[in-house]
Amino acid sequence: KDNWLKLADDNKMPQEGFGLYKVDGQKTMNNAIKAAYTAGYRLFDTAQLYGNEAEVGTAFKELQIPRDEVFLTTKVAEDNQGYDRTIESVKESLKKLQTDYVDLLLVHWPIERAFFETWRAFEDLKKAGLAKSIGVSNYQMIHLQYLATKAHEMPVVDQIELHPLLTQKPLLKFNHDHQIVTQAWSPLGRGAVLGKEVLEKIAAAHGKSTAQVILRWHLQNGVSFIPKSVHAARIDQNAAIYDFALSADEMQQIDALNNYQRTGREPELTYEYDQQY
Ligand code: A2P
Repeated sequence: KDNWLKLADDNKMPQEGFGLYKVDGQKTMNNAIKAAYTAGYRLFDTAQLYGNEAEVGTAFKELQIPRDEVFLTTKVAEDNQGYDRTIESVKESLKKLQTDYVDLLLVHWPIERAFFETWRAFEDLKKAGLAKSIGVSNYQMIHLQYLATKAHEMPVVDQIELHPLLTQKPLLKFNHDHQIVTQAWSPLGRGAVLGKEVLEKIAAAHGKSTAQVILRWHLQNGVSFIPKSVHAARIDQNAAIYDFALSADEMQQIDALNNYQRTGREPELTYEYDQQY
């Protein structure tokens, strides 16, 4: 249950985390974080774009959860990219989160405008101690290769949409080969995959739910994953995946569900990136 992954910068990150997208309202936030913390989650994942950083900060204060016991992630929104805006906006995020640093800071989406300037700000924020680790989100191989042409430090995490309907095997291999930890957002495919018959069968064989089977699949794939729920019973359930194992055959049956189905938007893949390669 206490799985922490080693990052390329020597920091450690819990393999399973708690996603805070669409967790809104102070009361809902407090209840969700309290249930998650009690269930053993230590990684909490928010973003400037979610509009709930202040609620996250307040929840940790009110619940008296010590800062050094949690691993906190936030992400810089597209509108805040560029060198100065990135620095300023991260300082605003820290104020809302009522903390001096985040454990992981991510570029939320790749955008061509200010692609390198934003990353330079990230490298400086890490040097200044405002972010312990720096990474990206929604980057495909081409974005990472483009970033590598000028970066002094490479991202240690790439958080991408990843679930049985979008398995992204080539990107997972690329990240692994480059010491980048892949982290799954929408690990349950926003619920779209929960009713699949293959999963129902595997779940029944193990006496688990389909959600637990999917999360176990992520776990055995060695990626990090951050399920979200606002229901205490589901929050508990999603953390109870450490007492069973999927066979190689079951893993393959789940892999075979891949049909390139995104629940979110497509990362920008423009001519400009392509021209470099
Ligand atoms: P809710 O918050 O109402 O529980 P993802 O993390 O892939 O984005 O998916 C999260 C969605 O799946 C949310 O809508 C959440 O709804 C739902 N969900 C989370 N955990 C479970 C579970 N164990 N069983 C069924 N639905 C779940």
